[in-house]
Amino acid sequence: MAKKKEMEGEVFYPSEQVVEQARVKDWEAMAEKADKDLEGFWSAEASELEWYKKWDKVLDDSKKPFFKWFTGAKVNIVHNAIDRHLKTYRKNKLALIWESEDGKEHLTYSYFAMNREVSRMANIIKAMGVRKGDRVTIYMGRIPEIVFAMLACAKIGAVHSVVFGGFSAEALHGRIEDSQSKLVITQDGNYVNGKIVDLKRTVDEALKRCPSVENVLVVRRTGQDTPMDPLRDHWYHELAKLPVANGKCPTEEMDAEDPLYILYTSGSTGKPKAILHVHGGYMVGTYTTLKYVFDLKDEDRFWCAADPGWVTGHSYIVYGPLLNGATSFMFEGGPAYPYPNRWWQCVERYGINILYTAPTAIRGLMRFGEAWPNKHDLSSLRLLGSVGEPINPEAWKWYHRVIGKEQCPIMDTWWQTETGMFMITPTPTVPLKPGSGTRPFFGQQAEIVDEAGNPVKDGDEGYLVLKRPWPSMLRTIYGDPDRYVNQYWSKFPGKYLAGDSARRDADGYYWIIGRVDDVINVSGHRLGTAEIESALVSHPAVAEAAAIGLPHEVKGTGIHAFCLLRAGFAPSESLAEELRQHVAKVISPIARPEDVKFVDKLPKTRSGKIMRRVLKARAQGLPEGDVSTLEE
Ligand code: WT7
Repeated sequence: MAKKKEMEGEVFYPSEQVVEQARVKDWEAMAEKADKDLEGFWSAEASELEWYKKWDKVLDDSKKPFFKWFTGAKVNIVHNAIDRHLKTYRKNKLALIWESEDGKEHLTYSYFAMNREVSRMANIIKAMGVRKGDRVTIYMGRIPEIVFAMLACAKIGAVHSVVFGGFSAEALHGRIEDSQSKLVITQDGNYVNGKIVDLKRTVDEALKRCPSVENVLVVRRTGQDTPMDPLRDHWYHELAKLPVANGKCPTEEMDAEDPLYILYTSGSTGKPKAILHVHGGYMVGTYTTLKYVFDLKDEDRFWCAADPGWVTGHSYIVYGPLLNGATSFMFEGGPAYPYPNRWWQCVERYGINILYTAPTAIRGLMRFGEAWPNKHDLSSLRLLGSVGEPINPEAWKWYHRVIGKEQCPIMDTWWQTETGMFMITPTPTVPLKPGSGTRPFFGQQAEIVDEAGNPVKDGDEGYLVLKRPWPSMLRTIYGDPDRYVNQYWSKFPGKYLAGDSARRDADGYYWIIGRVDDVINVSGHRLGTAEIESALVSHPAVAEAAAIGLPHEVKGTGIHAFCLLRAGFAPSESLAEELRQHVAKVISPIARPEDVKFVDKLPKTRSGKIMRRVLKARAQGLPEGDVSTLEE
């Protein structure tokens, strides 16, 4: 602990017990080794997994920024997530534990059972004509079948495109159309805070204009009345009884660089981007990061409390845990329904060892006070995690003290849909500073640069860039390779532009400040200002709109909208409310603005770009900064 005095700011050191248990005891040595031999590091990790055929090359950067990993190799992520475990004692180990929102249903699946369920779903979608390379949209809540559906697609080489179950028909429509999916997998309804959200009806609405979709597979969850198109729609439980569903299903041999999934995320302009991940590199990246960062032990029960609809759920509810042969826990409900002890009840009931969640959830639960967690035995917890946005030190300390009883290091993991895996993150023995994700993961180098691409001084703010390729990096934006190059690799050639501003302190620790592009991070969900603005303008009353993010106590950032009305419409409270609802309906309730203000004009540059920065400064009563480009 000699380092104690040398580090700046408030530092939390790991206990002896943490160090004793940790897989990586000497972080520095490991980082140095990976840094010196990037390909050696990743090829050693990849060798822990099974390949039908090994790679010719670990990293192929001959066509950068279109990097390729493990070229020439044959593999399927499902072979490593399920098949290989069946040859070992893990056949009988739990792969998935699930609890329903109301707490009345508990389901568990061993790896053996997981294989059976995934094979069944795979046989069914294959019988529907889904083939290698075809896209399948999955629009579901947190039920075991969403996991089966994702893995079933991967098993037969189809490309899944999961759309978060909270998205509207319009948002779903756009994503189905862009991906040209052949099949949609959904469920009749989804329980959300005691109410049913009609997922199937939303699919019906979305499919009115989606000619690519041939079939809809519907999982029965609520048993509610559900309209079914006799030619297009099929109940899963009915097909599951057929002989065709119940045989063995071979796992398709894939090229390491074959697509595994696409996942839509918001960017600075226009429509959401389809981020593409592949079988080989993504598998190695999620396997390795979860193993080292959350230090999985064979007997652990790991709970990533995200939704499978986001990348966090893809990488760390589904793929990462199963690749490690771990036990993943998934809870259908939210943290505070019916009472704010719901999560703590789950931790106690299932003996969760590692809990990984978002700052917004922690801030939300903090508001209900310590009495709720204190009712429960949380002593099984060994490690905690945070993701989605910078965690404010107050929330960090509450999480550390009240949930972790000062015994559990908090892994603050910075990463993105695009990176597929943790990029800036501690491992358990790294000294922690509340609010910092510490340093880049093994093999990675980050930098903070100014507008011209030159590194800034420690302590100064700048653009966060990543300097080295990593196996689970996005391969492209599906259907739009130019946008991939422009968005991530053009501003600072040769460096990956994350879209975040950050600073680095004297200890080499990174502190994320927030997005620098026109992306608003609401409760860890990415929303583009452009999406919100076009939703507002799609309302007959609105001529022009601007959306900005302002600090919000629980959500981190809340959306605030400014609207210029068309002639014939007058500002009113009820119209403001109508517009808020309208955005919720067009995009998702997540996107509902905190408030809508009516203005006579919006600050714009002479070239007509809305200066959101000026609106933001005005709203906060701050100086407007350089307004030399402001019109008139
Ligand atoms: C953006 C990516 C990766 C899963 C969740 C979000 C912000 C993410 C952190 C963190 C500070 C964070 C960044 C990033 N972000 N994790 N630990 N500390 N900021 O994935 O929707 O692709 O959003 O979320 O701004 O760019 P995403």
